Amino acid sequence: MNKTTNSALLFEKAKKLMPGGVNSPVRAFKSVGGTPIFIKKGKGAHIWDEDDNEYIDFCGSWGPLILGHANEKVEQAIVSTLKNGTSFGAPTALENELAELIISNHFAVEKIRFVSSGTEAVMSAIRLARGVTKRDKIIKFEGCYHGHADALLVKAGSGLITFGVSTSAGVPNAVAEDTIVIALNDFDAVEKTFEAHGNEIAAVIIEPIPANNGLLLQNKLFLNLLREKCTKNGALLIFDEVISGFRVGFEGASGLYQIKPDILTFGKIIGGGLPVGAYAASAEIMNNISPEGPVYQAGTLSGNPVAMSAGIAALQQCLEPNFYHVLQEKTTHFVDEINAHISANNYPLFVFNIGSIFWMSFSKNKHVDSADKINADSMAYFKTLHKFMLDNGVYFGPSGYEVGFVSHAHTVSDLLTAKTVILNGLDKIFKI
Ligand SMILES: Cc1ncc(COP(=O)(O)O)c(C=O)c1O
Repeated sequence: MNKTTNSALLFEKAKKLMPGGVNSPVRAFKSVGGTPIFIKKGKGAHIWDEDDNEYIDFCGSWGPLILGHANEKVEQAIVSTLKNGTSFGAPTALENELAELIISNHFAVEKIRFVSSGTEAVMSAIRLARGVTKRDKIIKFEGCYHGHADALLVKAGSGLITFGVSTSAGVPNAVAEDTIVIALNDFDAVEKTFEAHGNEIAAVIIEPIPANNGLLLQNKLFLNLLREKCTKNGALLIFDEVISGFRVGFEGASGLYQIKPDILTFGKIIGGGLPVGAYAASAEIMNNISPEGPVYQAGTLSGNPVAMSAGIAALQQCLEPNFYHVLQEKTTHFVDEINAHISANNYPLFVFNIGSIFWMSFSKNKHVDSADKINADSMAYFKTLHKFMLDNGVYFGPSGYEVGFVSHAHTVSDLLTAKTVILNGLDKIFKI
């Protein structure tokens, strides 16, 4: 068993300094129990904690690290840029470079605006949609997460077509009520909502590959329906590609499914591990943003040169031939081998994957709906497995609703070692 005394001491101190001892709630290990592991360094697919335990990392900072930790080209770009200063609050050539790199390689992007997080990207995209359509209501889906802006921290109320109820203290009812929440993959609810409110809806926002409540792969026909309903009713379709963007392909889920949303939001990979978000659309839509148009949005550190240089260095590597193919192949092989063992032993779970995103579902059903509704017992299994994996050098995000990520840096040997640990963990849980 790993000794984690230093992490425990650091956490005790952190709790006195920051709410829950963390700067983002899921890091606190509330859903798996125990104390969070404090990370000292990372290289490739490996991280080391403050007690010098080594782990193979499948959290990847929750998605940004598609190249693994301390990627050499990203590191070089950051160091050489920061030698010239870290921020100017004035335009830099690096912003053009990252914008051009994305626009010239993404069919749905003509103009882009950089911000500093996924939340900021989504919040700004919603404002843009409302500004363009001059309407207030938005539709979101249960089980999708879009960051912590007021309009999105909303769950379904009761009733057939439900107006939202806030999921956080501090969100005004007036804001929550403008968000209509529908179950994922519910064709009928989409039809009925548009029948009743078609001319009031500014935008439909969805994670086209929902990956914040398990991996809830949607029927492509459902995404097509959203596209069709938005077009017909003058609403804008927003694909929140903060996770899927540059992950399942350079053009993300939009490219994979060949569906063109009106607005896209990005985060995570786009900043090469530094804080960058972005929203993007056609030039016509983007020209509504200040200073060109009436929709105001700004940021002191937006387009920060150090972050831009990290993003450029990361995305250039993603554009190398076969990058996504190799990533997909090794993830699928890893997942297939785990599933073969699960199936041979008839264990009650299944590992789903798309590209290099995977999720261990403690049920054999392919979920299309919010996972927490169907999966009540599964978190107890995940908690046990998570502890076993940590003790044996494999790091997963500390929640069973979170997906795992394979990076370019994971070697065949890393995946083999991790697979062995996972299978041993499952045997321990399920073998009688
Ligand atoms: C799909 C999606 N949208 C938005 C966000 C918010 O991004 P950030 O945490 O950078 O604010 C996240 C974060 O996990 C996300 O997964």
